[in-house]
Amino acid sequence: MMEFIKTGVIGHPIAHSKSPAIHTYWIRKYGLTGSYEAIDIAPDELRVRLKGLAVAGYKGFNLTIPHKIRVLPICDEIDATAKAVGAVNTIMMENGKIYGTNTDVFGFVENIRTNAPDFDFTAGPAVVLGAGGASRAVLQGLIEQGVSEIRLLNRTRDKANKLANDFKFIEVFDWSQRSAVLEGANLLVNTTALGLTGQPALEINLSKLDKAALVNDIVYAPLHTGLLEKAKANGNAFVTGIGMLLHQARPAFERWYGILPDVDEALEKKVSG
Ligand code: ATR
Repeated sequence: MMEFIKTGVIGHPIAHSKSPAIHTYWIRKYGLTGSYEAIDIAPDELRVRLKGLAVAGYKGFNLTIPHKIRVLPICDEIDATAKAVGAVNTIMMENGKIYGTNTDVFGFVENIRTNAPDFDFTAGPAVVLGAGGASRAVLQGLIEQGVSEIRLLNRTRDKANKLANDFKFIEVFDWSQRSAVLEGANLLVNTTALGLTGQPALEINLSKLDKAALVNDIVYAPLHTGLLEKAKANGNAFVTGIGMLLHQARPAFERWYGILPDVDEALEKKVSG
């Protein structure tokens, strides 16, 4: 009989996660037997509950806000990518041990590779807005792809300065410079919450951005953010944020089920709606 593989996503809150829809779609598509649950765990209870879930036979989990950093000391081992990012978004459980990795880096890079196949990461500087957890995964992805000049801007400049210590090739600029630093850039990525439904708009002027530059927003609700509308109006190619969510899920699924699943049109449609 085929093994029944229990997995899930842990967050607080977790009700609105799209991950169960993605993973259950793949379980069905590949004819596997397993479950993917959304489990709400308060930050203080994470260690105890994870140990309990490991004993209960769960194979692994995705972790989301607010657990990605908190889970680091709970893991028995974390891989090089998770170490570099400083956050774990996927764990594997084996023989009572917890192994952590970070698939957001793959998700960010693969989204751009798939949706802008002609884009050359090494063709010039990248501008990254934001210095939170998502920004760390993006910076690691850019460095792994050979970007050697990253202009980093964050409302709270100190947080950007801290990232400049942790990652190579970063030059920090003041948040007020966000339209000016676009000159000569090859890529613009928004990792802030600005533009997300319910959040303020991202105020930025793209007129200095070269028409050949690519614009990527990791915000995916709405799918076509104000930033991406501006990119379109300015004549720039752009990549939406939904693909980062879809692609980060692939290596996690592979760790648990042994199959690297693909992102097909039906899945994209299911999750974008
Ligand atoms: P995530 O894990 O998604 O990156 P986070 O760590 O909370 O979330 O980071 C949120 C990012 O959005 C930060 O860069 C934050 O800027 P601050 O470090 O100054 O807080 C940015 N952000 C959120 N609201 C913002 C606003 N109104 N204006 C500018 N930046 C904002």
